Amino acid sequence: MSEHNFLTRREFVKTAGTAAAAAALVCVNPSLSAAQTARRRYAIVGTGDRATSMWGRDLAQRYGDVLEFVGLCDANPKRASVARELIGVDCPTFSNFDEMMDRARPDLLMVTTVDFFHRDYIVKGLERGVDVMTEKPMVTDEDKCQDVLDAERKAKRNIVVTFNYRYAPKHQKIKEILMSGEIGRVISVDFHWYLDVRHGADYFRRWHRLKRGGGSLWVHKATHHFDLINWWLDADPVEVSAQGDLQIYGEKGPFRYSHCRPCPHKSKCRFYYDMTKDARRMKLYAACEDVDKYYRDGCVYREDVDIYDTMSAVVKYSNGVNMSYSLNAFMPIEGYHLAFNGELGRLEVRDYERQPWTVAEETEMYVTKSFGKRTKVPVPKVAGGHGGGDDRLRDLIFRKVKVPDYMRLPDSRAGAMSCLTGIAARKSVEQKKPIKIGDLVRFS
Ligand SMILES: NC(=O)c1ccc[n+]([C@@H]2O[C@H](COP(=O)([O-])OP(=O)(O)OC[C@H]3O[C@@H](n4cnc5c(N)ncnc54)[C@H](O)[C@@H]3O)[C@@H](O)[C@H]2O)c1
Repeated sequence: MSEHNFLTRREFVKTAGTAAAAAALVCVNPSLSAAQTARRRYAIVGTGDRATSMWGRDLAQRYGDVLEFVGLCDANPKRASVARELIGVDCPTFSNFDEMMDRARPDLLMVTTVDFFHRDYIVKGLERGVDVMTEKPMVTDEDKCQDVLDAERKAKRNIVVTFNYRYAPKHQKIKEILMSGEIGRVISVDFHWYLDVRHGADYFRRWHRLKRGGGSLWVHKATHHFDLINWWLDADPVEVSAQGDLQIYGEKGPFRYSHCRPCPHKSKCRFYYDMTKDARRMKLYAACEDVDKYYRDGCVYREDVDIYDTMSAVVKYSNGVNMSYSLNAFMPIEGYHLAFNGELGRLEVRDYERQPWTVAEETEMYVTKSFGKRTKVPVPKVAGGHGGGDDRLRDLIFRKVKVPDYMRLPDSRAGAMSCLTGIAARKSVEQKKPIKIGDLVRFS
């Protein structure tokens, strides 16, 4: 099966079902909380990087007392076998999802495939009465979103969308400042996210470069940011107007090849990536690429790139807030600028993830009161992936960790609202008009 084929295979038949009631979607995932006390039969579909690290090896090593790996499934059987070795478990591997579900009988399914397929596996998992955790974005278009919401309601099982960014202590701090009322009612938000020439370019090497693969970076990446905003503001997106362009990658490149290793242009390409230096990736991807032609070091200048590398949007929220948002994927810096402009003051955050100079602090946060002073906010520092969010999220899912209600696990409604903001932005660029979220999906 070629990489192109796994993005063009027929979609599964849509699940019939009634529209989900909003009340049913704002659940706290009680049955996942039950996982904190029992050893759960855990299976993964899509055994690439995320599955083998965050949801694989780390879980096998540190959460073995609460879960048991019972199956690993990937469209590429070689990658599933390599994944088992990397995770360090001895459960069976599968290339057929139904066979895994029949034979392994998991009660908790983790969906870490290419985004395009999330809907299929979420729906199938729910239909089999299994609780489902899915990586972001929950889905890549509005029809899939409707299918997932309907299937969850029908199956009476729960979905958790693993929005790890919420669990970074710095992001919790922002939530707490906003809830404290210190800057009063929020009136507008400025949010600008920068992906640098390493991380940003990486999306253009792989399936993410196709709208069909990840819904474009409006969905694949910005869903994180839109979820944070929905959560911070405690509001829903209502309408999105957006612009997007492809300026650096894809057909804009000066030359191209299939992937970096055999590329005749490597000596002059500023995006040349030498994957041979990464033993793990050579094992997980290069050693398996004869099966699916999935080149982890794919050329960023391939002509089929159809996503945007520069994006901006204005989003209107249910509480009257307007956000101006941008995402650029070719920057010399990685991080973000964020400001909440309130009736009584402004909360300003500058996050420095990577830059070619030394910074004193990774995150700077200030509250400036109108007619008053600027105060520096101490930002909690925690080690670990995604600002410490990865560990805290896993503890919340698998351990008996008590959290305030505003830190509860993100559910399907959160998954829907965040990816619908991106879907609306993508449609707004394509259709050159504002898109209303309410026109995309029925919540009741
Ligand atoms: N929350 C985060 O911070 C974060 C970070 C990275 C990735 N992710 C998400 O995790 C998921 C996986 O990302 P990744 O970086 O591991 O990608 P990846 O390409 O490394 O892995 C995807 C895997 O899915 C497999 N696959 C493709 N089509 C399939 C199909 N139809 N059925 C079964 N398997 C199929 C591929 O063979 C591959 O092994 C994505 O949804 C991504 O958005 C989240």
